[in-house]
Order: sequence, then C-alpha cells, then structure tokens
Amino acid sequence: MTERAVLAVSFGTSHRDTLEKNIAAIEAELAAAFPERTVRRAFTSGMILRKLAGEGTHIDNVPQALERLLAEGCTDVVVQPTHVMNGEEYHKLLAQAEPYRARFARMSFGRPLLTAAEDYAALGRALMEALPAQRADTAVLYMGHGSEHQANSAYALMEYAFHDLGRKDVVIGTVEGYPGFGEALRRLKERPQVRRVELRPLMTVAGDHAKNDLAGDEEDSWRRRLEAETVCVLTGLGEHPAVRALFVEHARQAEQLQAEAC
Ligand code: CO
Repeated sequence: MTERAVLAVSFGTSHRDTLEKNIAAIEAELAAAFPERTVRRAFTSGMILRKLAGEGTHIDNVPQALERLLAEGCTDVVVQPTHVMNGEEYHKLLAQAEPYRARFARMSFGRPLLTAAEDYAALGRALMEALPAQRADTAVLYMGHGSEHQANSAYALMEYAFHDLGRKDVVIGTVEGYPGFGEALRRLKERPQVRRVELRPLMTVAGDHAKNDLAGDEEDSWRRRLEAETVCVLTGLGEHPAVRALFVEHARQAEQLQAEAC
C-alpha cells in the first residue's frame, strides 16, 4: 500500500554503521509515527550516491524516489529532510522535487532541523539530555558542518540557544564554515580554567567528518589540536531519541498544513 508516503531525504553517508544508527533510525521513527504511510529513503549527495553505487548499493536520489512512488500509485507524499539547516542541500531537494508537485494530489515539505526560532531551543533541550553536568573545568565543543550558504548563521544561533538554556559551557565550530576551529578555540580560551573538552559532532550522522576531522589520529584533527584533555563522543544527531522526535514533529506539521490547505 503506497498511496500515501513519507520520503525521508538525507544528505547521505557511505559509513554503514552511522547510516544505520542515524538515518535508518530516523526513518524507523517516521514509520512508527505514520503507520498509514510507507516510508522511503533518498539521498541528496551525488558524491555519496556514486560511492555507494560503486560498492553495489543503490539508493534513490530525490527524482528517482518520487518517480518510483508515482509508478506505485502514490498520490500523497510528505517530504521530510534530515538535513540540519536550510542550506544548499535542502534547497537542492526543493528544486528537485518542484517539477513533481503537480503530479501528486498532495505533496508537502517538512522543515530541516533548524529553521524556526523555536527549533533552536528544541534542539538545545534535546541534546542537553545527553550532556554531562556542567563543570567549571570542562567545555563541550560541537563540530557542525558549516557552509558558504547564508544558512550558515544557524551555528552561531544554535550556540546562543545553548547559552540561553543555561549551557554556557557549549561552543560550536564548523569544519567548512564560520566559526571554524580557530574561532571555537578562542572561545574556549575565554575560560582559562577549562582542562577538559568533550567533542561531539553536530551533524545528522557521525561519518567522515566526525571520525576523521573531529576525532581522527591525524595531527590536524580537532582532538589532536586541542591542548586540553579530550573525550570524543561520536554520536550523530539521529542517535538521540529526542532529536528523532523533532524530525517526526516537523513531518507531522507538514502533513497537517497540507490537510488544512485542502
Ligand atoms: Co563535508
């Protein structure tokens, strides 16, 4: 029965362990929340799709997944991204899905994790459940992906939200945007009493960036560049039940908006 569907769209990862623990876990949560809908997977990263294809695993891109649903008689689809921000990949997803809008009776889009102001507080609260108690000699450093897209401002706002929720020990840097490691390090040094830094990815999956750029053995990993004692907690955002619940909530809101519009 594929008349109604949820299409879960992720950037993707070629690391199978984190794919299962994060992307598949979010999809499973969506399937449990929408028993009347079939849940399908698509990835937006061409690089990841090609890498997986080379390893013998086919995963649909967005147009392929939508074509497949149409061919199976689907008329009503909720597209839920697992992307963190409204950046390049999310806009690519919207552009790829747009030509299909008229071919479904109903098509709606859930928000990425960080869109509305309330999303930042919600993610902060969700992640705080897993954080250790605050200590004067400890800091938590999250690694976001970062981007040249204007949505990159999400990281500074997320750090602000943590502080506003009382977690002033949280610093956020990114691998590919601003603030980078250097800015995050200066931020950490504002608290000279910090002797220990807990490193965590702020990404849907704990893939290449988490394993190598954050926690890797190479000299230029964040772990190696910090002078303080470090502990790496390599859980993707999708491993947090409270974060999975946020994705479900976004899909639910999209479904309801769509129903009201009819
Ligand atoms: Co990257």
